[in-house]
This record gives sequence, C-alpha cells and structure tokens, in this order.
Amino acid sequence: MQLSKEPFITADDLGARIRELATGIDAAFSQTTPVLLTVLKGAKPFAESLTKKLTITFDTGTIQARSYEGTESTGNVEIDFNSKATVAGRHVLLIEDILDTGRTAAALIEHIQAHNPASLKIVSLLDKPSRRIEAVNADWVGFTIEDLFVVGFGMDYNQNFRDLDDIRILEP
Ligand code: IMP
Ligand code: MG
Repeated sequence: MQLSKEPFITADDLGARIRELATGIDAAFSQTTPVLLTVLKGAKPFAESLTKKLTITFDTGTIQARSYEGTESTGNVEIDFNSKATVAGRHVLLIEDILDTGRTAAALIEHIQAHNPASLKIVSLLDKPSRRIEAVNADWVGFTIEDLFVVGFGMDYNQNFRDLDDIRILEP
C-alpha cells in the first residue's frame, strides 16, 4: 500500500466544503442548542474545523466505536459514550468521518436513540454509498466518493496518516 503523491481532496477544498456544511447546520439548528457528538478518533479534525465555523450555540460530547476484532462481518461495535450534556430530549448531531458499510453508524444510532434524543441528525465528511450494507444515510455529506481507501484529516490506515491536513488515497 502506498500513499498517493497528490491530494485526493486538498486542505483548501476541505475548508471550503466544511464552510458550506456549517452554513446548512447553522440554519437547521438556529432555534436550538444541539449536542454535537464527535465520533472518535477519525472525525476529530473534521469536527474541530466544522465547530469553528458554526455560529450557533452547542454542547459537545464524544462517542467512540470499535469493531470487535475478527467480527467485522457481523458488525459488532463496542461503544464508549462521553457527553457532559445529557442527550435525552436534546437535538443531537452525530459528526462522522466516513460512512462505508454503515455498520458503525447504525450501531451508534441505535445506542444514541436509546437515550431518547429529541432528534438525531448525521453529518459525515465522506460517504461511500456503493459500499453500504446497513441502510443509513447522513443528513449532510461533504464529499461522495467511489470505493477507494482514503487517509488523512483524521482517517487512518492502522493508525497511520491521521495527521495529514489533506485527504489522500492509499493505492495497492
Ligand atoms: P463502516 O462501519 O463500514 O461504515 O465504517 C466506518 C469506519 O470505518 C469509519 O468510521 C472509518 O473509521 C473506517 N473506514 C471506512 N472506510 C475508510 C477509508 O476509506 N479510510 C479510512 N477509514 C475508513
Ligand atoms: Mg477508523
């Protein structure tokens, strides 16, 4: 596996698109103070960039999902939830790095719904709809991409490349 020499999505394009997403999210939550739940670790850079651009007030929390080793095909997901705000009765926005099969998002949605939020919306920086197994969709998507393995801007390959400020393709 090797990293593409050229960015697949440049830092400038990321910033511009995230600004557009922020405008839509500001409008959708203008009457409320949502709880923004960042999915660790991959969505952290996206969430930081997005929240800097928002003008609404919000509370924050994090949620971490790990696939149990060796059970990827069953999609078992272990969840760590850490929010100072209670989610019950609140409007929640889940901030994801990428929707692939959708199994992680589906497990997170089920977990969050069990806390009885007033509403639950999802923003995902990237979306690979051709890979979907679970029927989940984001309310806002930064970039829809083909079936490629990408890294950077929080996304990793075996914990590498998260710190890149652009997104690159891992080429076989
Ligand atoms: P899903 O459960 O199959 O939708 O996968 C979700 C998780 O898999 C994401 O949150 C990422 O952590 C990881 N993932 C999926 N596709 C990629 C990719 O292209 N690059 C890096 N991580 C990915
Ligand atoms: Mg990951």
